[in-house]
Order: sequence, then C-alpha cells, then structure tokens
Amino acid sequence: MDKFIIDGGRRLFGEVRLQSAKNSVLPLFAASVLTESKVTILDTPEISDALCMAQILRELGADVSFHGSNVVIDSANADSHEISSTLTKELRSSVFMLGSLLTRFHRARIAYPGGCDIGLRPIDLHLNALKRLGVDIIERDGYILCECKELRGAEILLDFPSVGATENILLAAVKAEGTTVLQGAAKEPEIVDLQNFLNQMGAKVQGAGTDVIVIEGVKKLGGVTFRPMKDRIEAGTFLIAAAICGGEIEMNGIKSENIGLLLHKLRENGCKIHIKNDKIRLESHGRLRCNRRIETMPFPGFPTDLQAQTTALNCTAEGGALVVENLFETRFKYVPELQKMGADIEVKGRHAFVRGVPRLHGATLVAGDLRGGAALVLAALGAEGVSEVLDLSHVDRGYSDLQKKLSNLGAKVKRVRI
Ligand code: UD1
Repeated sequence: MDKFIIDGGRRLFGEVRLQSAKNSVLPLFAASVLTESKVTILDTPEISDALCMAQILRELGADVSFHGSNVVIDSANADSHEISSTLTKELRSSVFMLGSLLTRFHRARIAYPGGCDIGLRPIDLHLNALKRLGVDIIERDGYILCECKELRGAEILLDFPSVGATENILLAAVKAEGTTVLQGAAKEPEIVDLQNFLNQMGAKVQGAGTDVIVIEGVKKLGGVTFRPMKDRIEAGTFLIAAAICGGEIEMNGIKSENIGLLLHKLRENGCKIHIKNDKIRLESHGRLRCNRRIETMPFPGFPTDLQAQTTALNCTAEGGALVVENLFETRFKYVPELQKMGADIEVKGRHAFVRGVPRLHGATLVAGDLRGGAALVLAALGAEGVSEVLDLSHVDRGYSDLQKKLSNLGAKVKRVRI
C-alpha cells in the first residue's frame, strides 16, 4: 500500500491539466454494453475505479483495450448478465450495470455495490424505478436479481434527485418500448454528458441538466467515440489546494457554472478568481477568511464531493465556519485525522463547527475514503512540517497522477511504497 510523504508550506504556482470526469466516465463504461458496436472513450483517467469498471466489462465477456489514455470497448461477444461480488464490492458505480444489462439481456444479477464508506447508500430509488419500467426484482443472499420480458417506458418520479438512479433510468429506458418521462431527476453536469453520449449512439434523450428528462425508446444503438467532460471535482480540489497553500494556479476546460458555488465560496475566503471562457485562474495571498456556512446540496448546490476539502481550507482560515452535510450520513470521518494536525473541529451529526487556527502541523494520517483522503493531502500541503498520508488506495480511485500534478505546481510530495 502506497503512502504520500508531504513536506508542507510550499506555495503552488502553474497550470493544472485536468483529467476527464470520474463521474462521467464510469457511467459511460456501463453504457458501452448497450451496443454490439465499438465504443471509444477518449482521455480516460488512470484511476482505479475506471480500471475496475473495465474489469467488470471483461467479466461479462467484452473486449476492453487501452490505447494510451483512450479506451476501446467491444462488447459484441458479451454474453454474461452476472457480476460477482468481488468486483461490485470494489465500487459503487457497478450499480449502473443494472440498467445497461437489463437493456442488453433483459436480465441482470449483481451483488450489492460497495464504494466509499460515507453513509448508508441504499439503492431503493434505482430498484423502484426499474420496477416502473417492468422489471421483476428479487433480493437474495446479497445479490439483486432482475428480469423482464421487455422494458416498457413509464412515468417515473424520483423522491430525491439521486445521480446514480437518474443515470440507471437513462440506461434502462433508452431502448424501452415507448417513452419514459422522468421527473425529479438529478441535474449534475455528468448526466448531460451521459445524455450526449447516448444520443451520439442513436438514442433519443432530452432534458438532462433539468429535473425532467424524456427518453423515447429506440430500436437500435450504434458505436460512438466520445470525449468526456473535465472533472469538476478534481478542478475544485486543486483550486482549494492553491487557496490553502497560497500562490497562483490556472486550469482549462471547466465551465465555471459547473463549480459556481465553490468559486463563490473561494471569493468569500478572500481568493481572487479570474474567469475567461473555460479558463479559471485563482490567486491566494495571505491568511484566508472562514466561510460562515457551507451546506452540501444536489447540483447546482455545493457538491458533497468537495465538502471535506473545503473543511480542510477553513481549518486555518480566520474566524469560524459551519459545514452541513446533507447528502451522506457519515461524511465527516476524516475529521479526527485533521484534529491530529491541530485542527479545531467539533462534529455533531451532520454538522461540523470549525474554528480557524493559525496553522496546522504535520502528522501521520490515514486516508479512509476518496474525498476525505484528498482533504488530508491538502491539509498536509498547507501544514508546517512533514506529514504522511497512509493508504492511498481510496485517493487512487478518483485522482490520476496526483503526486506528479502537485509536484509540477511546486509542492513537495513523494509517493512511497510500503
Ligand atoms: C454520485 C457520485 C458521487 C457523489 C454523489 C452525490 C458518481 C459515480 N458518484 O453518487 O461522487 O458524491 O452522486 O452528488 O456519480 N439515495 C437513496 N436511495 C437510492 C439512491 C440514493 O436514498 O436509491 C440517497 C443516498 O443515500 C444519498 C443521496 O440519495 O443520501 C444521494 O445519492 P446519489 O445522488 O444517488 O449518489 P451516487 O449516485 O451514489
């Protein structure tokens, strides 16, 4: 298991080359089995979640090959509708396979999905929606067994705008008989990416990015070559890193409205942000001010995937901050690690109260989940002295080349195998 050794206190300068969005790429892998033609996903990030999705597709019988950063998926020979628990335990996105396997084979058998331990993460919304499309579902021995004679378009109302459920419904409804009208859909930009991908395959989906999505079932889907959107969470993570460390960084390819609330919060902290087309530049000088309140919400609200990193920022800003986590029940598990560095944070249920201290000091930290782990890396970059961040396997699930990208900006980070 690898660890980072970080010598904190360096300012960050330069340009970050952003990866394609993890949360866009993973559903696209699932969507690739909707067709027997070849699918190419360009500029796929080298993250372990993507490699795991590739492994799932191979287990189904698909041929998946990497050509540099481009991935070619040929699922003409895929003949299995089953995914073992060894793979589904690795990542939550395995649940997307339900929708696409049902479209392809009218059956699916998958073990309950895993992923980061940040809350209960039920999949009732996914399963209820699939039932509306005509699927019979049995849950037995940790497996979900789904079967249908045919998928039929339906009106579906989501109780809560779940990203994964919205994407699963798209995957199950693209070739259903008739039209599906999904109300209460999640509005995340990655869902727009999935819509564009499906439409380039010949699907008829419209409305992604709003809370009503209409999917007109089509008979056939063809191949596609697609470049996913850039990763807004990776972008946010680097912007927060530079805000914490001080310095000046810039990045290309991100629509500022996709991280609108983060940019607003960073300005509140005292950072200068310059936006020109899809270029974002951040300048951070001197001690920052705390955000009074940060509350995570579905898009376009403040992303839960940037909650931990923002908490790390507030630890050394002036004043106090209240961070409210509305999406996941236990997403403050990284807090005791920040406390080891001298952070003053009190957690009560879904609320964290942060009182800014002048600086954090280096410590040995354990990364327990993906974004919490990223927050520890950022805190260590800004801290006085040397820190070790242990167990990078979670961080590797979502960030490609993190050590190299941070080093290019002037950070002192070493990756060591232990
Ligand atoms: C996706 C993202 C993840 C992000 C999250 C919220 C991917 C691969 N992952 O996860 O990075 O943190 O959106 O923006 O895109 N819920 C239910 N029942 C369900 C489904 C969800 O109660 O059937 C609840 C969840 O427990 C959670 C909330 O809805 O409280 C949001 O979850 P959801 O939007 O589904 O997140 P994911 O799709 O798992």
